[in-house]
Amino acid sequence: MSDQTQLHIDGQLVRVKAGSSVAAALRIAGGMGAARTSVTGQPRAPFCGMGVCQECRVQIDGRRRLACQTVCAEGMRVETTA
Ligand code: FES
Repeated sequence: MSDQTQLHIDGQLVRVKAGSSVAAALRIAGGMGAARTSVTGQPRAPFCGMGVCQECRVQIDGRRRLACQTVCAEGMRVETTA
């Protein structure tokens, strides 16, 4: 079993350690880790890391999910702009 997992984040291929959360992968990819913005347009970012704040919602394989509560899977497609 490989100790790496590959997934696509906004079309960019990202390689992370197996078992990493999508929130961690988003940070590794250089993003803020979330798709949400404030009413003034400021980017928001994951806050709690445990599924409470809802700040890390992204589209994963076509469904809105919490990045901090989702483990990366091989070939997963994550969209932060959807
Ligand atoms: S970081 Fe708070 S719900 Fe994901």
